[in-house]
Amino acid sequence: MSKTYTVAVVGATGAVGETMLKVLAERQFPIGKLHVLASERSAGSKIDFGARQLVVENLATFDPTGVDIALFSAGGAVSKEYAPKFAAAGAVVIDNSSSFRGDADVPLVVSEVNPEAAKNRPRGIIANPNCSTMQLMVALAPIHRAVGIERINIATYQSVSGTGVKAMEELGRQTAALLNFQDAKPEVYPVQIAFNVIPHGGDFLDNGYTTEEWKLVTETRKILGDDSILVNATVVRVPVFYGHSEAVHIETREKLSVDKARELLAAQPGLVLVDERKAGGYPTPVTHASGNDPVYVGRLREDVSHPRGLDMWVVADNIRKGAATNAVQLAELVIAETA
Ligand code: A2P
Repeated sequence: MSKTYTVAVVGATGAVGETMLKVLAERQFPIGKLHVLASERSAGSKIDFGARQLVVENLATFDPTGVDIALFSAGGAVSKEYAPKFAAAGAVVIDNSSSFRGDADVPLVVSEVNPEAAKNRPRGIIANPNCSTMQLMVALAPIHRAVGIERINIATYQSVSGTGVKAMEELGRQTAALLNFQDAKPEVYPVQIAFNVIPHGGDFLDNGYTTEEWKLVTETRKILGDDSILVNATVVRVPVFYGHSEAVHIETREKLSVDKARELLAAQPGLVLVDERKAGGYPTPVTHASGNDPVYVGRLREDVSHPRGLDMWVVADNIRKGAATNAVQLAELVIAETA
């Protein structure tokens, strides 16, 4: 019989956790025992996993002994407290929070970009990048490898699922209220999200950027292994349920023609080019990304305002490739080490 693994999903009742379970099943991850964990609030409730029905266990009282791989997506505070405990008990932790991403002894890995980095994990923890960085890296890594990237200028158009289940409910509730001529009360976001765009994600920093924007700076440098890359980001939340979009403008070290860029992108695993110069010949969250794993790239063109500038539009499902799918792909890399 082929080897199976004891897997724990922490935050299994959340938007990302649920998708982690779905992706584990879809990719037929060799699971022996599967523990689904959440807070005391949902402990005891039931989750379907294929033909199995699993009972949600309380993380606070769970004994991690025997867990081979733990996928964490229950927020930064939970990861900080429990990920080291799981690692100490012998599990490889794949953590979707931002708690460890900046630590030098924790690898930050996009499976199609820097998979070899996952092997060097002295603390037993591998960090899963932020969703916006994830899709950006799949699109930019082949270009950086070929000609070097000097500067990235990016504006994101991020869906509400990135904020969590309550934000998705808020968008639905506000939309229904406004269509019925009622007030849309903001609760999760500081201002109305329905029929609006909000130039704000995370917390404000002293330099005027937000924490979500700063993640794009630091995570990009770490994943591409190049601290000289300049990144200028504006994060915008838009009334879309699933799928982040990014208007990306890069300045390469050597001139890259649009034809050569297209060739490089076409050869990149995990990336699909949708780049016809006509109405609808580009990817959008609804028509392409939502529910799917690839990173979609379109609107490729040479920047007329810069001799080494290139523009593109990058779209992916933030819950799948941006979080759950990459986490499961990292788990696959880990088990492949001993296969
Ligand atoms: P619970 O259902 O018990 O609240 P989302 O980001 O989509 O809102 O999901 C957050 C996930 O993290 C949920 O599964 C949630 O479980 C879990 N979670 C939140 N706080 C804790 C905690 N203190 N201990 C364990 N799981 C937690």
